[in-house]
Amino acid sequence: MAERKRIAILISGRGSNMAALIYAARADDCPYEVALVTGDKDDASGLALAQAEGVSVSRLDAKKLGASYWHVLEKTLRETDIDVIALAGFMRILPDTFVANWQGQIVNIHPSLLPKHKGLKAHDAVLAAGEDVTGATVHLVTTALDDGPALGQVEVALIPGDTAETLAERVLIAEHQLYPRVLAEFASRETDPDWIVAKVGELTLKLPETHAKTSHGSPGWRVGSETSGKFFAYVSIRHHGEAPIALLVKTSGPDEMAALIEAKPDLYYRPAYYGASGWIALRLDGRQVDWDHVAEWLERSWRLLAPARLTRLMRAADEF
Ligand code: GRF
Repeated sequence: MAERKRIAILISGRGSNMAALIYAARADDCPYEVALVTGDKDDASGLALAQAEGVSVSRLDAKKLGASYWHVLEKTLRETDIDVIALAGFMRILPDTFVANWQGQIVNIHPSLLPKHKGLKAHDAVLAAGEDVTGATVHLVTTALDDGPALGQVEVALIPGDTAETLAERVLIAEHQLYPRVLAEFASRETDPDWIVAKVGELTLKLPETHAKTSHGSPGWRVGSETSGKFFAYVSIRHHGEAPIALLVKTSGPDEMAALIEAKPDLYYRPAYYGASGWIALRLDGRQVDWDHVAEWLERSWRLLAPARLTRLMRAADEF
């Protein structure tokens, strides 16, 4: 299995969703581990539970820390080498800069079927609206409150006579099923070959005159016309169940390739069939793939293989 993603859970209270995430992570095949529990109240009751379960806890208190709180939190998360932040009853609005620093890496659970009933007192709003079904949503966090793209939802039916309390209790049971499942999907998404191929495809198609074409069963991308284009990238996917998932791109030649592999043997390797002609393999199955770096490699490889009429245009654009 690929390396597990390191999750930090942020709580403000009892942390029952946190507990559901911690217990789900005990399964051998869970793609995430809970590397840290923290929050904004140093006496939140969920912290004691996390501690008793052997999870690292950082007791931060937003009131005591005042203006330095977000800075301390950021530092704590970076020092713990966190990949994904899971908010679980964290009762504080994240500043835009914090969200920007962790773009696409923060998830939250909200007790309604978003986009319906955002904000606090969702169950009261559901009852007031006379809904016959509600539920919970796990979503990506953006700067707008309870508004990021939904990653998963679960429905919960209303029962005649429901109050906000009875509803909250039942929705919570559904939350505990939903959150670990959606977080696991989210954490393993970037090691899913289909996701990786789609991501590389998206980056390659930003370069001029490119198209996708399969080569000996591997996804590949060519530059130039549909009939005479040249391959500038391939994705090699766990052939024979052993080799990692990697991007194959063209280097300037054997010297550069040898130097790169020597400098970063965890990142680069010589692919079995293409190595001699200067193609290098860049691993795409690590815990933290640097997609900007991948995009740079794709552009370099494109430049080496594109016809002169296209590289001339690119060079002219570079001069501006
Ligand atoms: C949950 O209902 C969650 O959806 C909301 O806050 C509540 C937290 O409960 N965001 P707990 O602390 O996980 O028990």
